[in-house]
Amino acid sequence: MALVRTLIDRAQSDSEPALPPGLIELYDGDLHFPRSPAERPFVIANFVTTLDGVVSYEIKGQAGGSTVSGSDPADGFIVGLLRASADAVIVGAGTVHATSPEALWIPECTYPAAKLLFREYRVNVLHKPEYPLLVVVSGSGRLELERAVFRTPGVRTVVITTSAGSDVLAAAGATKLPSVQIHVLDAKSGTMAPMAMLRLLYAQLGVRRLLHEGGPTLFGQFLEAEAVDELFLTLSPQIAGRKGDTIRPALVEGMEFMPDRAPGFQLLSVKQRAEHLYLRYDCVFRE
Ligand SMILES: NC(=O)c1ccc[n+]([C@@H]2O[C@H](COP(=O)([O-])OP(=O)(O)OC[C@H]3O[C@@H](n4cnc5c(N)ncnc54)[C@H](OP(=O)(O)O)[C@@H]3O)[C@@H](O)[C@H]2O)c1
Repeated sequence: MALVRTLIDRAQSDSEPALPPGLIELYDGDLHFPRSPAERPFVIANFVTTLDGVVSYEIKGQAGGSTVSGSDPADGFIVGLLRASADAVIVGAGTVHATSPEALWIPECTYPAAKLLFREYRVNVLHKPEYPLLVVVSGSGRLELERAVFRTPGVRTVVITTSAGSDVLAAAGATKLPSVQIHVLDAKSGTMAPMAMLRLLYAQLGVRRLLHEGGPTLFGQFLEAEAVDELFLTLSPQIAGRKGDTIRPALVEGMEFMPDRAPGFQLLSVKQRAEHLYLRYDCVFRE
């Protein structure tokens, strides 16, 4: 039975189905992506926000996206489907710190009921390894290495960091972890350029389709660098509000755009389940 209902679908289609039938049924349609541009992966971002654009309540134990979505199963399914479609998932260190220590960025974590369907799609249809590579971005290298993402057999994690960050990671024992690789990039004031991250992932790690799961700081930098191709946005039917002194991050933090340079979006599809909307956009950057 379908988990969502398709209201609008203007996405590129193909005569060949991309998804196996069980996933087409749950998603109420197929899911095709364009090929990657030259020398960098195709970048798909995915977020859930409240109606007022908040991505996290920033309350201990309730800082993640599932609080914002109200543990919505269809949002969890779409997250899993996008992970299953990607060679790698990229997240900033802030997003890693905000999740539980057991969290893994693998398809079945957010929708266990489709574990076998996700596996069939990845392994038999896309011919990808069972799990996407996880890419963690941290300039400082201050990461909690006891987390499951750094210690789960079968889950490969790459940390992109600065030269100073790699020293911090090495001192903490990261180089001894068998599933962890560290890559160093040049940085300006601790900040690495998104395009340099993308070129590294494309050329050295073979990543052609990258899922960007935030957070808002890393996403803002990717938007500013015009390094996002599509945005999947779940709109959750709640309003978080904020007072002057509360921290309730929105979709983009640490970056602002002038009206004539603000990234624009073209609607590709709209799906719905009860009061939730699942939007898919093409990103349009202005000359
Ligand atoms: N609702 C949703 O869909 C959703 C999705 C994702 C996240 N979130 C929420 O967003 C919150 C986290 O927000 P955030 O903005 O702090 O997270 P973030 O973007 O994941 O992390 C920011 C950190 O990432 C590193 N970083 C980012 N860009 C970098 C660059 N260009 N060069 C070097 N390092 C870079 C830095 O780490 P270092 O400090 O280690 O240098 C920085 O402090 C959490 O509450 C999380 O649950 C919500």
